[in-house]
Amino acid sequence: MRAELRALAAHLPAPAALIDRDALDRNTEAIAARAQGAPVRVASKSLRVRAALDRILEHPGMRGVLAFTLPEALWLARRGHDDLVVGYPTADRAALRALADDARARRAIAIMVDDPAQLDLIPVTNRRRPVRVCLDVDVSYLGVPGLRFGTRRSPIRTPEQAAAAARTIAARPGVELVGVMAYESQIAGIPDGARTARGGAIRMLRAASIAELAARRAAIVAAVREAAPNLEFVNGGGTGSIESTVAEPAVTEVAAGSGFFSPVLFDGYRGFRHEPAAFFGLDVVRKPDDATVTVLGGGWTASGPAAPDRLPTPVHPPGLRYRAAEGAGEVQTPLSGPAARGLVVGDRVWFRHAKAGELAERVSGFAVAAGGSIVERWPSYRGEGHAFL
Ligand SMILES: Cc1ncc(COP(=O)(O)O)c(C=O)c1O
Repeated sequence: MRAELRALAAHLPAPAALIDRDALDRNTEAIAARAQGAPVRVASKSLRVRAALDRILEHPGMRGVLAFTLPEALWLARRGHDDLVVGYPTADRAALRALADDARARRAIAIMVDDPAQLDLIPVTNRRRPVRVCLDVDVSYLGVPGLRFGTRRSPIRTPEQAAAAARTIAARPGVELVGVMAYESQIAGIPDGARTARGGAIRMLRAASIAELAARRAAIVAAVREAAPNLEFVNGGGTGSIESTVAEPAVTEVAAGSGFFSPVLFDGYRGFRHEPAAFFGLDVVRKPDDATVTVLGGGWTASGPAAPDRLPTPVHPPGLRYRAAEGAGEVQTPLSGPAARGLVVGDRVWFRHAKAGELAERVSGFAVAAGGSIVERWPSYRGEGHAFL
């Protein structure tokens, strides 16, 4: 974290959350360049700050939002967003009713489905202006016996299954199939840069998965188009897979979110490096011994398999580490290491979160630095009164 940023944010009361807007802008530019002209759909879960989302969307390379819940999408639609895909299925009956009853929202939003049971929950209010749905397809790699390289999402995997699902949707009144989403989390979300045996294995699996996926995704899209000739988009990818995703002719747009704030879990890719753009600062409140400081707060652990890589990373001063028996605490976090000796009560420690959007769930807003000063404050979704997930 640059000294200039630390100086700018030194006066902010802890817990202090900071966005480096210049880095965010450079990341936006870099992500658009990586997409080589393919439109980038911005994954809002990896931001959860409306002002950041809106600023990113001003870039000509960005198109639309990949929202994470239907209430969020309805909220964004009310604030003027008109191209929203909810990236995950919903069983929120009240939100589905609100969508079905609102002609403007129905035009702006597509919701994710992969099961007829989800279609059953959608109220049929208008057969001429149907609810727009997108078919989620599983693209994890099963080429190594006993291993699933990827996440467990949609039950639909094959072109035949996708075509059958598309026909089921076509036969339903009140819904219209407008898109296909096939998210390759194993390429987009698993860092491939480590110079270890594990890193090597990931690179091999990644290459095999990219090849398998290109053929299968093309076949899936062709099969779906037969039942849904008006298919508008085929979405794939995420920050870690932009290059391989946009190389597929079957894909019409790529999703990205994490790369804009560029949290710690996105430092480890071989093909790109974005700039850290979001930080948080905590204050030292006591010193249990000479080589340990305790900061107030800290347990802002990221989602995913519980492991040390989900902990926030203390980035300044360098050389601080968690104590194995305590980790990051609910209220207090002891940090040890050489740097602790030089710290006194009232000093600040700066951290980066492991993931991109989850930091915003912990704070009501961010101070925004640009051009050498703090220029504005951006409320988080929470700060605007919304806890979507
Ligand atoms: C459906 C979907 N698309 C894309 C992404 C990629 O987002 P990011 O760029 O934040 O990794 C995710 C992340 O989990 C996702 O769930």
